[in-house]
Amino acid sequence: MTAVPPESVDLRTALGAAALPNPVLTASGCAAAGRELEPFSPVASLGAVVTKSVTLAPRAGRPTPRMAETPSGMLNSIGLQNPGIDAFLAYDLPWLADKGARAVVSVAGGGVGDYAELARRLRHAPALVAVEVNISCPNVEDRGQVFACDPEAAARVVEAVRAELPAGIPVLAKLSPDVTDIVGIARSCVRAGADGLTLVNTLLGMVIDPDTLRPALAGVTGGLSGPAIRPVAVRCVWQVHAALPEVPLLGAGGISSGLDALQFVLAGASAVSVGTAVFGDPSAPARVLAELRTALAERGFARLSDAVGYAHRAKVGDEHRPDRTPAPSPRPAWRLGEDDL
Ligand SMILES: Cc1cc2nc3c(=O)[nH]c(=O)nc-3n(C[C@H](O)[C@H](O)[C@H](O)COP(=O)(O)O)c2cc1C
Repeated sequence: MTAVPPESVDLRTALGAAALPNPVLTASGCAAAGRELEPFSPVASLGAVVTKSVTLAPRAGRPTPRMAETPSGMLNSIGLQNPGIDAFLAYDLPWLADKGARAVVSVAGGGVGDYAELARRLRHAPALVAVEVNISCPNVEDRGQVFACDPEAAARVVEAVRAELPAGIPVLAKLSPDVTDIVGIARSCVRAGADGLTLVNTLLGMVIDPDTLRPALAGVTGGLSGPAIRPVAVRCVWQVHAALPEVPLLGAGGISSGLDALQFVLAGASAVSVGTAVFGDPSAPARVLAELRTALAERGFARLSDAVGYAHRAKVGDEHRPDRTPAPSPRPAWRLGEDDL
């Protein structure tokens, strides 16, 4: 494939009815409503800002410690700290609208009724282009069973949210990778009316502090995010795109460079979210966008849409060969060579 000029690459994309100027978004919970990011990654320049999951009532979140570092990622147990829907509608969405940003509003609840009420409140909200349904929450009406792990419960939430919103506002169901059959959950959400899917939320993990001899997080378990989960997330996007190729996917999980984002696009994502990377580098979303543009151009993709799902149809001979000669890579430590035998 012949390279094209980076500035000519058409980055426009869509998540259902939401048309976006480019495919790089923030991930829910990693940049609140975008204020702190603004000096480094101007919110209007991104595809959209996915806001921190909002609940009906304000929540203070879990006791500290709520974050722990892990090799190649982090573990969090924030407990959905957020100002509640009233304050969110009063301060956060008007700010995003004022900046000219597009908002994908993430909603979370403890029962189907909470989600429906949140959707009702968001109906005519400014800056809103889509609603992301965070179903990785315990269902208080069903012994704390997580909605995202049960196809029927997930479907009930999606159906309730879809019913409350105008057709022009797509509903994205955000799935958990902590399931044995992600395609089954995806199908169930789409049948219930999801216009797109976000893949993936964090993986459930745990760290024990060898000095205190106790779990490192006050909440004991937490969500694992960052580069460690990227291969799992890419696999989920691949499997769901293979099964449901018409459904727009928003990929998330350990994206911190344009080449990371490209993997998700090639697997079938129409857009990507940058989460944990912003904690170390608040300019990550803007940088990922610039790097993705270059990566597409170098590989001869004149349009982002041509690259979506390309890995499913790539043939031998399509390889991208970088101009520069790569440095010889050292033998991976885990691989035995002849000398070791
Ligand atoms: C500190 C933190 C808070 C998060 N809060 C939310 C949240 O409120 N709602 C949600 O749907 N996902 C939340 N997530 C998950 C991210 O949106 C994202 O799906 C996940 O972290 C994987 O992407 P990443 O590896 O780029 O962070 C949170 C992640 C982190 C690290």
